Amino acid sequence: MSQFELKDEQNHPRTEMPEFTRMVEQSLSRRRFLGGAAALGAVAFFSASPLSRTMAAATGCSPLLGFEAVPTSTADTFVVPPGYKAERLISWGDPLFSNVAEFINGGGNTAAAQAGQFGDNNDGMSFFPVDDNTAILAINNEYCNYELMFPHQGKNMGEEDVKCAQAAHGVSVLTLKKQADGWRFEKDGKFNRRIDANTPMAISGPARGHDLLKTQADPKGELALGTFNNCANGMTPWGTYLTCEENVHGYFGTSGQAEITPAQARYGIGAEDAGWQWHKFDERFDLAKHPNEANRFGWVVEIDPRDPASTPIKRTALGRFKHENAELVIDNDGHVVVYLGDDERGEHLYRFVSEGKYNPSDIAANRELLDKGTLYVARFNAASEGELKGKGDWLELTFGKNGLTPENGFSSQAEVLIHARLAATQVGATTMDRPEWVAAHPTEPMVFCTLTNNKNRGVKDNQPVDGPNPRAENHYGQILRWQPANGNHTDAGFDWDLFLLAGNPTVHNDGLYAGSANINADNMFNSPDGIGFDQAGRLWIQTDGNYSNEGDFAGQGNNQMLCADPGTGEVRRFLTGPIACEITGLAFSPDQKNLFVGVQHPGEELAGSHFPLGGDSTPRSSVMIITREDGGIIGA
Ligand code: FEO
Ligand code: CA
Ligand code: CA
Repeated sequence: MSQFELKDEQNHPRTEMPEFTRMVEQSLSRRRFLGGAAALGAVAFFSASPLSRTMAAATGCSPLLGFEAVPTSTADTFVVPPGYKAERLISWGDPLFSNVAEFINGGGNTAAAQAGQFGDNNDGMSFFPVDDNTAILAINNEYCNYELMFPHQGKNMGEEDVKCAQAAHGVSVLTLKKQADGWRFEKDGKFNRRIDANTPMAISGPARGHDLLKTQADPKGELALGTFNNCANGMTPWGTYLTCEENVHGYFGTSGQAEITPAQARYGIGAEDAGWQWHKFDERFDLAKHPNEANRFGWVVEIDPRDPASTPIKRTALGRFKHENAELVIDNDGHVVVYLGDDERGEHLYRFVSEGKYNPSDIAANRELLDKGTLYVARFNAASEGELKGKGDWLELTFGKNGLTPENGFSSQAEVLIHARLAATQVGATTMDRPEWVAAHPTEPMVFCTLTNNKNRGVKDNQPVDGPNPRAENHYGQILRWQPANGNHTDAGFDWDLFLLAGNPTVHNDGLYAGSANINADNMFNSPDGIGFDQAGRLWIQTDGNYSNEGDFAGQGNNQMLCADPGTGEVRRFLTGPIACEITGLAFSPDQKNLFVGVQHPGEELAGSHFPLGGDSTPRSSVMIITREDGGIIGA
């Protein structure tokens, strides 16, 4: 155990946790105890597949959906249904502390200021209740937009600019206080914290200390600096936040000579970076000088949001890839199951099962559960050729099994995890249409995953048009669901079908590009990405799609958030975002009366947004709070 882990343990008196734990358990324990019994209900879901055109899926009769649909929009506004109210909680650059400078419009914030301000491009988030009037909102800050961040729009980067960009990435932890007019961010609140691309992090689990993780600055391979491209998230019943590192490859590059290995190439790592230019001013990111540094990213990081002094921990047992989110379920027998998507065209869907069991009566006993367990990857088969349902199984990624042997290039479990993508190919995993978020139903053994789109499907050899990825050059995306065998999330097998195929029935008259039966001219969208369930079992769907409103996407407008009834298949649009944004990140207060939603990169590529402050202000990623004017439950 490292000094970091020890410090982390010592800083977590067990008595600080019960209120939060009780609340999270209320939602998780239903999954845990309803597993077997609820399987019958789950079968009913499947027999009522929205893909069947005979089903009255889109008739607007769902008892779960109680709000009026919002039309598409191309305006620079955030629109919620009649009777609902949306307010801005916080925006990129807002100071977390009173000794930090305010955001400067038009660019020019210093790196020092950014380090104490809300990060940029907010993405996944989780709400942690503390007491009746206090809560914590932990929020990912995925990346930044140089064209909005700097007066030179990224065309003349210097060291200070790179430091500023690094400080805008990572995670923001916010203290919320309940005021007379609702939940508000508390500047100087005791939980406020910024975690960025330079925050020390412990490396934990089977890959800790492996040669591939050792660098000049960290010859033991146990301590990484920072986290970035923090996409989506997860939360644990023991009160921690999980932040997932996604497109980390793009931050590494070199002006020198780097020999790119096949493994690096599989992870998208090459001499050319994605334009971030960090390697020019911070040699840690120079592949020629520090080839192993990139292996220290692409992990799930566990953070204790209640302790601003705690050291985040990279949990290597969950594998290294372009992580989207981490959806955690406690199974019937107490094992922790974490579902994980790898968002890349033709990559895979994973599942982690802990070796130990969750102990609800001793919170501290759970702190290392994500360090030991088994990683699996999914293989799908169609019931018959062309059918949009079938069976699947989880293939074990354990050194020495399924061909993960030295003859095939794997010499330890650490290597299997560091090169999880290579291991997945070795065992025969199915290539997917970009797995984004995974969401588990709160009471049924039923799991959903967004497959956002994939222009390479049917174009590249290893990406056949088949099974859950049924469309060549898939512009629209689909939502996959599966039911674990025997209602048990640790079982090897599952049944799957498609909950919906996004499409455009006004452009494509028929066939799969029109979308499934539950998609129509009034609720169509493209590129489902963020998803999550509320306690009542409504499935909330956020989009990160093409917002051109033209061609294949005509009539679909700006990115949006919808709500679906997983029983009837009905889908209804709940909100629309401003110009050139993505809607991503969602969290409910435990009473389900406050919904926090993220607006990411409004006005990217100088698209002309001034959201949220209007006038000629710089557009800023923001977190919105949605409530009902009558104080009711969101969505009902
Ligand atoms: Fe950060 Fe795959 O979205
Ligand atoms: Ca996403
Ligand atoms: Ca996305």
